[in-house]
Formats: sequence, C-alpha cells, structure tokens
Amino acid sequence: MAWKAGAAGGMVAGVREGAMKVTILGGGGFLGRKLAARLAADGALGGKPVEELTLFDLSPPAAPEGAGFPVRCVGGDVSDASAMSEAVPEKTSVVFHLAAVVSAAAEADFDLGMRVNLDGTRALVERCRALPAAPRVVFTSSVASFSGGQEAVLADDARQVPANSYGAQKAMGEMLLADATRKGFLDAVCIRLPTVIVRPGRPNKAASSFVSAILREPLLGLETTYPVGEEFGVWVCSPRVAVEWFVHAATMETAALGLDRGVNPPGRRVTVAEMLAALPGNARGLVRPQPDPAIEAIVSGWPAAFTAERARRLGFSETPGLDVILRGFVEDDLEATRAERAA
Ligand SMILES: NC(=O)c1ccc[n+]([C@@H]2O[C@H](COP(=O)([O-])OP(=O)(O)OC[C@H]3O[C@@H](n4cnc5c(N)ncnc54)[C@H](O)[C@@H]3O)[C@@H](O)[C@H]2O)c1
Repeated sequence: MAWKAGAAGGMVAGVREGAMKVTILGGGGFLGRKLAARLAADGALGGKPVEELTLFDLSPPAAPEGAGFPVRCVGGDVSDASAMSEAVPEKTSVVFHLAAVVSAAAEADFDLGMRVNLDGTRALVERCRALPAAPRVVFTSSVASFSGGQEAVLADDARQVPANSYGAQKAMGEMLLADATRKGFLDAVCIRLPTVIVRPGRPNKAASSFVSAILREPLLGLETTYPVGEEFGVWVCSPRVAVEWFVHAATMETAALGLDRGVNPPGRRVTVAEMLAALPGNARGLVRPQPDPAIEAIVSGWPAAFTAERARRLGFSETPGLDVILRGFVEDDLEATRAERAA
C-alpha cells in the first residue's frame, strides 16, 4: 500500500469536524481518475473537507496531483473480502463503486464478469455491513442494463431487461444495493451512465468504444472506423458531467429516492452522422464505415433515449451539446492522449 501525504493543510485523519473519508473503487480507470482529480481540486465533497481518499484498483492507482489530503493508493481485487476491507477503511463516509469489467469483455468472459461485476458488488455490501455507520455508495450502473433498441424512449419506470451479461450484472448489482439500502447497511445511489464521450487514451474493450473513437482518433490525426450505420443513435454524456453526477449523488438527500435507488441521468441522444458533422476541418475524412455484426448485435440492443425526468427533479445536471463535449476533450485530454499514444 502506498501513501501520499497531503500537500496543504496538514489534515490528520479524524481531526477536522465533519470531514469525510472517501473511497473510489476502480480509482485507476478513466472516470475514477477524473473523479479523484476533482476531489483533489475541491478538497471537499458536499461542503465537507475530504479527510482521506482511498483509490483502489487492480494495481495501486497514481494519486491525483495537488491533493490537500492523504491519498491511500491500494491494489487488489474487488471480489476479495480482505482487499475490500483495505479499500473501505473504518469511518468511510462515501464509496464510489466504479470498478468493473466492461461490456464486451464481460460478454467474452462470463466468469470474469460475474466475479468482478456481481461478486465485487456483493463484497462491497458485506464490507459496508461490517462498518458501524452506513456509507453513501455511488454505483455506476449502465444504460446497458436496459434493452429496447434504437426506437425506444425509456421512461423512468422502464424495466431493466438487459441484452448482455454486463448489463445483467449491473442490474443485479443495483438490486443488491437497493436491498442493502433498505436493510440499512449502506445508502446507495445507482447512476445508469450513458456512454461517456470522449474517452481519452486508446480504444478499449467496451462495445461502445467506437463512439469515442469516431471523435478522438481523427482529432489525433488517426484513421478510424465505425461498425454501425450513420443513423445509429447513442445516449451519451461527457466525463465532466459524469463527475458532476457522481458528486451530486454522493451529497444529495436520498430520502426522495425511497426504495428506488436507480437513476437515469439526463444524457443526450446523438447519431453517428451528428458526431461526424461535429468534427473539425478534414478530420471527417479519417473516419469510414466498417460493419461489425458482433459489436452491432450488442450496441443495437441499447436504448438511445430516456426521458430522465426523475433525475432532473433530483437535481442531476444536463449533458451539454456535442460542440461543448468536444471542446472539453480538447481542453482536458487531447494533449495527454497524444503524448500517451506517441509513447
Ligand atoms: N465509460 C463509459 O462509457 C461507461 C458507461 C456506462 C457505465 N460505465 C461504468 O462506469 C464505471 C467506470 O467506467 P470507466 O470508463 O472509468 O471504466 P474503466 O475500465 O476505465 O475503469 C474501471 C476500473 O475498474 C478496474 N477493475 C477491473 N476489475 C477490477 C477488479 N477485479 N478489482 C478492482 N478493480 C478492477 C479496472 O482496472 C479499471 O481501472 C464502470 O463501472 C463502468 O461499467 C462506464
């Protein structure tokens, strides 16, 4: 286990009144790193100072720059009870549960998906049961927990009927967390994330990887392909708004949720054609169609639109337009991605 002392303030665990301990499971991933950076920048969550942050992933994640509080960087497997005890120390107030095997990988390896996505969530429930006070748990579920396809516009009471194992494991995780909330072991908010664009770095094993690639690769001057038609619609959000949702879910009053702990946040429906049109200059010429029936079979089952009324009522912020999303990627991630890809 690695420790990084905070740079400012010299906070000592347990000393500051109302301060909180926070854990990010999957803290080394795309959204985990963004969230850790946000906490480091704010130094607080919901107006309360962060006393200590634990970042947990398969290998110890890097601590964010400039955190004014201690950051514990812990490696382990979420499905392992003793690793989970390390990841969620005593007096933890908030756990962001982002650790997961993503869609195409969970579909390709059923056992791995079940172990990480379901058993990992179960291990978190068991860990929270052992804590004296129930922590807030923010769980990243997914639109993949629904089906309905391109034509569907899902209302807030739509049933989760997953069309792949990843979506089923997310839905099962939500159910576990809702019951654990009812039992008083924890206090869950499950956010059914849209596809988050633009994902920095390289293409990954998510079936939706092409959605980010259409925008990212040409901005890097690289060629890429898309496996579906130009009319294909997808429900998206940006990393910036996803992090806003995480912070809101961690700090909101949960009484209004009642027994229903799942939230469909206000994403945005965009088509492949709209994404291509949003690309600057001749970047568009770097993208061409290349049908892939296996990917299309997975993504075409995902609904491309939600009403998201309940989430708006609960204070979850809106996803901006594609131009704003693209600008955010250029400001936050383009140069780092270029450097990483060059290396
Ligand atoms: N990015 C998206 O478009 C999107 C969309 C819907 C839902 N989600 C969900 O949001 C969460 C974060 O997504 P992301 O894009 O940052 O994914 P990511 O793959 O970048 O991060 C997930 C992290 O979990 C870690 N992990 C995997 N198995 C683990 C294990 N056994 N023990 C500990 N850690 C393990 C990985 O190493 C990785 O760092 C995930 O739960 C994902 O399912 C993401």
